Amino acid sequence: MKPKITVVGAGNVGAQCAFRLAQRDIASVVLLDVIEGVPQGKALDMSQAGAIDNFEARVAGTNDYGDTHGSDVVVITAGLARKPGMSRDDLISKNAEIMKGVVTNVVKHSPKAILLIVTNPLDVMTYYALRISNFPPNRVLGMAPLLDTARMQYFIAKTLNVSIKDVYAEVMGSHGDLMVPVPRLSTVKGKPITELMSPEQVKSIVDKTTNGGAEIVALLKTGSAYYAPGSAAARMAEAIVMDKKVVINSCCYLDGQFGIKDVCLGVPVRLGKNGIEEIVEIDLSAEEKTALQNAAQAVKKLFPVLPDL
Ligand code: NAI
Ligand code: 2OP
Repeated sequence: MKPKITVVGAGNVGAQCAFRLAQRDIASVVLLDVIEGVPQGKALDMSQAGAIDNFEARVAGTNDYGDTHGSDVVVITAGLARKPGMSRDDLISKNAEIMKGVVTNVVKHSPKAILLIVTNPLDVMTYYALRISNFPPNRVLGMAPLLDTARMQYFIAKTLNVSIKDVYAEVMGSHGDLMVPVPRLSTVKGKPITELMSPEQVKSIVDKTTNGGAEIVALLKTGSAYYAPGSAAARMAEAIVMDKKVVINSCCYLDGQFGIKDVCLGVPVRLGKNGIEEIVEIDLSAEEKTALQNAAQAVKKLFPVLPDL
């Protein structure tokens, strides 16, 4: 039997994620939203694309958590998205309320699931989902570092006029102003970008990566990015259900790793059927470690806003 993946929130990111999953033909996909008709309509549209795009997976749209029963992975995208002038942290109270309701329902129907959080502010929402679900830390993780990495790869490829496929980027930390892009470990075919471009160009890439989400919000005006975010969440869900054992930077609970405790932050992790199977503790310079610790402090400062913690 194929694995079951539920995507909660049938908006921009959730729909893109569900469609990318259906195209991969690896799971039965359930798309759930509070708005009646929207997940059902989008699911029908996606399933009919199978005849054109040559996939057999069906997407089921629903407003009923009963249909999500026994999911292996639940991707949570439900919540408000940023509008111009809003930071990710402005979303915290409203999205915490939504997250609490969603996680409570998900846990009831899929007590063994792995939760993949997308809703912003990502690092805080991942921590909140971990606490609300009472799941072990290997079964709750967040998508954002993969997106931030993809953005950095894009900016490097564009600056050096090379294929994005030859670029590796390392981005850790929080999904926000205290993101930690690591140029020293970002390479083109093994060569660090610090040897391939000027310090000004490196700084510009770091700044563009950190502002990658805001740049798209400013252009779209009515919401935030969703193609790359939806694809990133689908890739992570695939890595889990297909037991890929691949290292993908993800937001996860740290319990002393990198000298950081009791916070969720972006670091390299190995993903497989058990969710987070290993936190890969790469060697960081003193400056990089400090940047990561500053990010942890900034995320922790938001915890008092969360209800019931
Ligand atoms: P959207 O507004 O297009 O979709 C959100 C959907 O959630 C809507 O369809 C809405 O009806 C639904 N929803 C609201 N409350 C719900 C509930 N209680 N149960 C089920 N569904 C509910 O927003 P979009 O663009 O899809 O973004 C979703 C979230 O993902 C936002 O918080 C956004 O900031 C975040 N995001 C995070 C990224 C990351 O890298 N972690 C990247 C892009 C977006
Ligand atoms: C992004 O980075 C808004 O978090 C979202 O595009």
